[in-house]
Amino acid sequence: MCGIIGYAGPRQAAPILLEGLKRMEYRGYDSSGICVGTADGAGSTSYSLALVKKIGKIQALRQVVPKDFPGSWGIGHTRWATHGAVTDRNAHPLLDNSGRIACVHNGIIENYRALREMLEGEGVVFQSETDSEVIPNLVAKYYEGDLESAVKAALANLQGTYGIAVIHAAEPGRIVGARNGSPLVIGIGDGEMFLASDVTAMISHTKQVVYLNDGELVVVDSSGFRTTDREDRHVDKKIEKVSWELGAIEKGDYPCYMEKEIFEQPESIERALGGRIDFETASAKLAGLNLDRRRLGEISRVEVIAAGTSWHAGLVGVGLLERMARIPASAELASELRYRNPVVQRDSLYFAVSQSGETADTLYALREMQRKGGHVLGICNVVGSTIARESEGGIYVHSGPEIAVASTKAFTSQLAAFYLFSLLMSRMRDLSISEGSRFARALAGVPEQVKKVLAGRDEIQRIAKKYSHSRDFLFLGRGLMYPIALEGALKLKEISYIHAEGYAAGEIKHGPIALVTPEVPSLFLVPDDELREKTLSNMKEIKARGGPVIAVGVEGDDEVAATADDFIATPRMDPRFYPFTMVVPLQLFAYFCALDLGRDVDQPRNLAKSVTVE
Ligand code: M6R
Repeated sequence: MCGIIGYAGPRQAAPILLEGLKRMEYRGYDSSGICVGTADGAGSTSYSLALVKKIGKIQALRQVVPKDFPGSWGIGHTRWATHGAVTDRNAHPLLDNSGRIACVHNGIIENYRALREMLEGEGVVFQSETDSEVIPNLVAKYYEGDLESAVKAALANLQGTYGIAVIHAAEPGRIVGARNGSPLVIGIGDGEMFLASDVTAMISHTKQVVYLNDGELVVVDSSGFRTTDREDRHVDKKIEKVSWELGAIEKGDYPCYMEKEIFEQPESIERALGGRIDFETASAKLAGLNLDRRRLGEISRVEVIAAGTSWHAGLVGVGLLERMARIPASAELASELRYRNPVVQRDSLYFAVSQSGETADTLYALREMQRKGGHVLGICNVVGSTIARESEGGIYVHSGPEIAVASTKAFTSQLAAFYLFSLLMSRMRDLSISEGSRFARALAGVPEQVKKVLAGRDEIQRIAKKYSHSRDFLFLGRGLMYPIALEGALKLKEISYIHAEGYAAGEIKHGPIALVTPEVPSLFLVPDDELREKTLSNMKEIKARGGPVIAVGVEGDDEVAATADDFIATPRMDPRFYPFTMVVPLQLFAYFCALDLGRDVDQPRNLAKSVTVE
């Protein structure tokens, strides 16, 4: 939530800041701004700060930044509003009262009211309604000729979360950054340095990065960087190399990222599985778990901690683990778990699942479980993300960067991670080698099956057009299809703004069936598994009440096709694998509905990709 960027080097800063903000736009897109240090005249050694801010997307900012906006160091921000409406004034960067210090902030300052009152008592006049504006004014209060010391002193007053970048007109070429709960990455270029919330902001300039940890502060200028901790001690940092290419974050020939990411799934699932299926032993190789066989054998319970789509992947994962490995398992919403004083058991294994690896709720739940002695592993997509680094091991899903706010390819890759883990655990328990081999072969075949589903895009688009003007929708499924129903409903509501409820099909008679009218369609997930007959009966109950029914089923299932008004066929396969293939039509259905309604598919209203606030 919110993206921040800083640049210090020989080049003009503004175009680099704008490009970086554009690449981070998915983190927040209410408003944005940049501030650069600029000489007070040709050859002058004194500098001032030049600031431009604008509500709307980065394109709106681009239009108001003068072509020749001089300054070779500066900071920028793209906002997802928390405190204060979406206005030019509330956009970042925010200045102190003197206009000599500028700050960009990602996070929430919880004690900002008290700080604001204190600073107002000292004569500061606030220009915005944000919590963040206390930061540049605190830095000004403590400034005695050294920005780094002043930022440190200011930070000592703050409660809450932050990733910040601060500049001072009196210290040309220098940026001070700090992190506590919101990500910050240093980029090392050739004679130039970057600072950003996310590597995507600087990948076109450098692949050499350093991840800051909470409690660390960095000073960068064109010659390099220096990191310290809260106690002012030097911290040695490891330089890491980003493994993906710029092309991975470009749309290519696709009209938007979501479509690109949906269609990338055969390859992204393949990458998640890559080399991890051990056909010889009919098991899985997951070295990143950092757990030996003895420790794995002692696990008596698995608990997943996650939010949104990642939670849905966790629900499928626990269903599979329970079924295959006969391990008690549950998936918890991180935002609930973190405040529940959960019971942590030493022989339990906890998985924090997160595409971004930065979701605040999941991160704080992970820390709480660790504080209570829980062993937490991560299932993350973003390499080097906070959750990945703070977990004791885990599984990278390697979907590649996911830019569209609605998660698609990360979901199926998270499923792949759970299927691998289930194979590993069940082979250590009751699963025979022949059963394990069958499962392993079916898992390896998933990318091909997903390709077949994607080939049906035109038919799904036709059906989406027919229903896109509905106001309400029900998504229904049983067993492993229940989380897929939840996921389908989430996809539809977040990008098309159609109200959709995901429900366990067996639950509709306990209340939701009252919603059914000819105007409220129900989308059923009907694999040919042991629950097919039950789901079919639920479909008939809806039909009997005049509700339109769309069924996502299995090719050749004439009875389901005849019962439904519209039928989306998916390839017949081992029923345990339908979550992979049956979620794809739902992603496409939501996408085509949103397209038909003219929605901003990649950046839907009020949302942001990486939810780093509570
Ligand atoms: O990065 P995470 O997987 O931790 O994100 C969790 C949710 O915020 C995320 O899945 C959200 O629900 C997506 N917008 C769903 O498409």
